[in-house]
Amino acid sequence: MRVLVTGASGLLGINFCLQVSQKHDVVGIVHSHSLSNVPFQVLRIDLAYEELARDLVSMVKPNLVVNCAAMAYLDQCERQPQVAKIINADLPAWLAEECAHNKTQFLHISTDAVFDGRKKSGYTEKDSPNPLSVYARTKLEGERAVRKANPNALIVRVNFYGFSISGERGLAEFFLYNLLAGKQVNGFTDVHFCPLYVHDLSPILMEMVSKGLKGLYHVVSPEELSKYDFGVKIAHIFGLDRSLITPVSVKESDLIAPRALNLILNINKLQSDLDKALPKQEQGLSYFYDHYQKGYATNLKKYIG
Ligand SMILES: NC(=O)c1ccc[n+]([C@@H]2O[C@H](COP(=O)([O-])OP(=O)(O)OC[C@H]3O[C@@H](n4cnc5c(N)ncnc54)[C@H](OP(=O)(O)O)[C@@H]3O)[C@@H](O)[C@H]2O)c1
Repeated sequence: MRVLVTGASGLLGINFCLQVSQKHDVVGIVHSHSLSNVPFQVLRIDLAYEELARDLVSMVKPNLVVNCAAMAYLDQCERQPQVAKIINADLPAWLAEECAHNKTQFLHISTDAVFDGRKKSGYTEKDSPNPLSVYARTKLEGERAVRKANPNALIVRVNFYGFSISGERGLAEFFLYNLLAGKQVNGFTDVHFCPLYVHDLSPILMEMVSKGLKGLYHVVSPEELSKYDFGVKIAHIFGLDRSLITPVSVKESDLIAPRALNLILNINKLQSDLDKALPKQEQGLSYFYDHYQKGYATNLKKYIG
């Protein structure tokens, strides 16, 4: 199968492309970062330009398009709401339309952040979103535009962690590298989420595609924990000093974009349709640890440039 992946230099995109290119012909799109010596084809395109984005599908002729491109830094979205709208809402619509026109499967990546976090239990696909930030609002607009343009599209709300090319993307790298350097960090005790290791997420996404699933799905770990507890688990598995993590409330932070406290998603629909359980935290974190021990994080950095 020929798979076109946007956002191939991002946290999800690079790990997804490296895994999927073991079995499939992958073309990855990057923008401000370039990649070299990766086992897949790379094109550098600014997808904020509608014509360039639309031409991509008919030019590459993939069987599947996976849209991992996003403006995914929440505070950057608050500062640049127009750009956030183009990348998070308009681009998915353009790609969804082109895929519908070319009869190409389309998988769009969305987020757990579309909810306001006021619910006391896990959100299902039927719960009404209520985004709190520019990021969340534009991502929700993207979901809705994709659904309208392409009813056959698969839309997944995810939360994941893993190693990135910069070594500075996401919570797991934040905890790991600060703890390795013996630095004190804060961990939020009042934000709960269900992160999946990215190497567990990618094959699940491909399985969903191969089963022909369509519409909206929540794809996260079945096990929730606080961001503080996530840091403590990383400290434990890597044998690092957990006392370096100070338990704090997110209200004490200087983050700009408002964050929901409950990011817990219910994944019953997916587990039932795939007829299997998704990985719990210990399983994902031991996979993350094994990859680190095998030099995966260091090797990723060699792809920059
Ligand atoms: N990280 C998480 O925990 C998390 C949680 C929930 C949902 N998500 C969703 O998962 C998806 C992937 O997130 P991520 O964390 O992997 O994001 P990321 O690391 O920030 O990567 C974003 C990607 O989008 C590309 N991109 C941005 N602007 C572009 C443009 N104008 N033209 C072409 N490409 C452009 C970037 O390319 P360059 O870097 O080359 O410019 C990069 O490859 C997103 O849809 C995000 O909303 C992420």
